[in-house]
Amino acid sequence: MAKKRILSGNRPTGKLHWGNYFGALKQWVELQDSYECFFFIADWHALTTDYDHPEKIKPSVMEVLKDWMAVGIDPKKSVLFLQSWVKEHAELHLLLSMMTPLGWLERVPSFKDMQQELRDRDLNMYGFLGYPLLQSADIILYQADSVPVGEDQVAHIELTREIVRRFHHITKTEKVFVEPKPLLTKTPRIPGTDGRKMSKSFGNAIYIADDDATVRQKMMATITDPARKRREDPGNPDVCNIFSYHKLTSPKKDVDMVDRECRRAGIGCVECKKLCIENALQFWQPLRERRETWDGKEQELLGMMREGSVKAQTVAAKTMERVREVMGLNYGTAR
Ligand code: TRP
Ligand code: SF4
Repeated sequence: MAKKRILSGNRPTGKLHWGNYFGALKQWVELQDSYECFFFIADWHALTTDYDHPEKIKPSVMEVLKDWMAVGIDPKKSVLFLQSWVKEHAELHLLLSMMTPLGWLERVPSFKDMQQELRDRDLNMYGFLGYPLLQSADIILYQADSVPVGEDQVAHIELTREIVRRFHHITKTEKVFVEPKPLLTKTPRIPGTDGRKMSKSFGNAIYIADDDATVRQKMMATITDPARKRREDPGNPDVCNIFSYHKLTSPKKDVDMVDRECRRAGIGCVECKKLCIENALQFWQPLRERRETWDGKEQELLGMMREGSVKAQTVAAKTMERVREVMGLNYGTAR
């Protein structure tokens, strides 16, 4: 039986962090064997928020690629591509924009949330409003069955489903596109070092690329149970960020021990953090070493993306032929 197809992407706005890994990337890696996978770098999406810093895009693309290689995204198993190298994304976005009600886009929660989160930037832009529509185009161009994403992206997948239904309704067609489903990870929200959701824009993230000293320093500064003031006070691991990190990369016996001992003041926070740090470093070291083997290999990384983009474009072009026909643009092409 043919494998089901999945598609997902990362915006190149810098290095990827633990939240990106446990919230999505880890699952992508696992899915590579059972699905036909398309993973791409959404460089146009990065410009929706960083339009005034174009110089950051290319270095960020390289960082994301290295992060992918570090965690085990494999170009032999999956199609890896760059959004802006497959122009069909832009064409489909444009055509869909003709029939997308403004209200639908204004109501997407991330529209207001991200404006709030990135208050230092003026995001009152046409392109930013269209962000989720471009994302819809990304997905349905490839007829993806499922989209592995974090919780924060579910509203975008929902919008995509509505766009597909509306397209079929308006053009009186069916099956031009597949209605995609979100594929959620079971990982709960990953807190940053200050307890808010881990996010680059909050300055509370620990990165896949961070070296041992940086990881140590960030974890030592991580906020624990705020009610536990003295060593003798019993703590509550359920509200502690360090305990969340234990659950990510510590062996079960350590997680169980901390869960028990913290509650009866049997372990102190400094000792607990040190254990957590050692476990985290053990997990991340090999990944970071693999990441470092790609340093200075920009051309190889881009070459890999070129191959993937050619494959992706073949699929995208086929979808667009049908879309043009359905939308009345059925008079062939100039060349
Ligand atoms: N919006 C996604 C994010 O911020 C990135 C993205 C763009 C994406 N296009 C996509 C994810 C298509 C999945 C499918 O993480
Ligand atoms: Fe958190 Fe560990 Fe301190 Fe408990 S002992 S509050 S789990 S750091």
